Amino acid sequence: MNKITIVGAGRVGEATAQLVAIKELAREIVLIDIREGAAEGAALDIQESAALFHFDTSISGSTELTAMRDSDLVIITAGVPRKPGMSRSDVLGTNLAVLNDIIDQMIELASDAMLIMVTNPVDVLTYCAWRRCGWSKNRVLGLSGVLDAARMATFIALESGYANKDISAMVLGGHGDAMVPLPRYTCIKGIPIDHLLDEQTIQAIVERTRHGGAEILALKQTSSAYDAPAAAITEMVSAIVHDRRQILPCVAILDGEYGQADIAMGVPVVIGDAGVERVLQLHLSEQEARHFSDSADQVRADIDSLNLPA
Ligand code: 2OP
Repeated sequence: MNKITIVGAGRVGEATAQLVAIKELAREIVLIDIREGAAEGAALDIQESAALFHFDTSISGSTELTAMRDSDLVIITAGVPRKPGMSRSDVLGTNLAVLNDIIDQMIELASDAMLIMVTNPVDVLTYCAWRRCGWSKNRVLGLSGVLDAARMATFIALESGYANKDISAMVLGGHGDAMVPLPRYTCIKGIPIDHLLDEQTIQAIVERTRHGGAEILALKQTSSAYDAPAAAITEMVSAIVHDRRQILPCVAILDGEYGQADIAMGVPVVIGDAGVERVLQLHLSEQEARHFSDSADQVRADIDSLNLPA
């Protein structure tokens, strides 16, 4: 991939740029931030690691959205993070205003790009971005389940003592406290986790996963998580760049899957060089389906609160 633009040079944006550069997923990375010097400083700092990480990716920074011109992929992390005690939806109004301006410029300057939304509340903002840009739904996705599933896998590794790399977790639904971790679709080297962990431990892991972001925020106080989010974004970018046809849980636009339409939610998708190739419809138990529907209700309530034009 030639050019990736990351709008928002805060901690998530900067950490993502570093990982994307180390993996040489693009020839050029552009960081954009309205704060004078923030993107330029982050870009130069990362560029100065090239000699040590041996990458040839070039990174630059700008305060101008015009710097995204001709990007193949735009990653939007710009916006205000929630503070301890706030829900991700509490920053919806502020972050939607930020997003709209970016999208308007993106459709002019990077009309053939793909979009990965990161800014929270990510399900609603992925949906708003898709409505505003008018692009086909395969080109618009959001970061949710890759991060949440990584957290779930970590908690399983900590509880079981087994290797992180052997653990595959699945988390659906909105990227919020109503997310739907799925132990039935979570295994350690193909062994379902309920063969290796008792029900009480599994339920504790499910609850900790649901509040994984808040746990980090409460510890850091002045920042949300950014290392694991950056790693999750980079996994999505790698699946696109290398056309991996990788099954990843991401925010995608639904058109009837899981009984939901005209909404963006975290679901298992196949990601390749065209973005979302398809949404995988897992068989859900009655309880899992109810949890998914409850999560969808929360996302739809946020969407409805915006009174978007029909
Ligand atoms: C998280 O879960 C910031 O939403 C992100 O940490």
